[in-house]
Amino acid sequence: MVKCGKLITFEGPEGSGKSTQIKLLANYLSGAGCEVVVTREPGGTPLAEHFREILKHHHTQEKIHPSTELFLFEAGRAQNVNEVIKPALAAGKIVLCDRFTDSTIAYQGYARGQDLHMLETLNRLALNGVEIALTILLDLPPEVGFARAARRVETQNSFDRMESETLAFHHKVRSGFLALAAQYPERIKVFNAEQPMEQLAAAIAREAADVVGI
Ligand code: TYD
Repeated sequence: MVKCGKLITFEGPEGSGKSTQIKLLANYLSGAGCEVVVTREPGGTPLAEHFREILKHHHTQEKIHPSTELFLFEAGRAQNVNEVIKPALAAGKIVLCDRFTDSTIAYQGYARGQDLHMLETLNRLALNGVEIALTILLDLPPEVGFARAARRVETQNSFDRMESETLAFHHKVRSGFLALAAQYPERIKVFNAEQPMEQLAAAIAREAADVVGI
């Protein structure tokens, strides 16, 4: 087994094909001899999955306050980092995480308008010293991802708080992700999510191989 010990995160809007690309990269890295752990946020541990359920589907008269939402994301992250991510990295595994700290900056910061410095501080607290080696940002015009997500809400008849946000909200999320990519060009690599799946997977694999050193 190759000792890799790197955290790779995937970010992007709903409907950008993140989960498919995570599966493909996991297969590629396993094939190259790395031990791979796949996790997601919100979620990743039984406790954090409880928070996910609230964050995604809470739908009663009592609205979730933006600060409450933020704390739930960060609480789940702290749990996932300390229970899953840190131990896996220490054991030399590669961790692929579906969404992570950049989602907080894009959604709670750029889209919901919460203070970016405060969010960075909370992210740092949840990270507990863990560093992200590479972030794959799958970029997609909100109209495309939004239409896919809206169809899903209709056909599955399941309420999803974030997917029910307006198109303007999702434009802000995208601007947030692109601003982050401009701020951290070494870590965050932007990929056009509209290109053919295999072509995208090959480009992601090249970037990951470089970072992991295989
Ligand atoms: P999910 O179904 O995982 O979205 P997707 O399939 O698009 O990845 O739902 C997670 C939702 O939570 C998504 O709308 C993004 C949002 N989110 C935040 O607002 N802040 C965060 O810190 C994280 C991790 C996710």
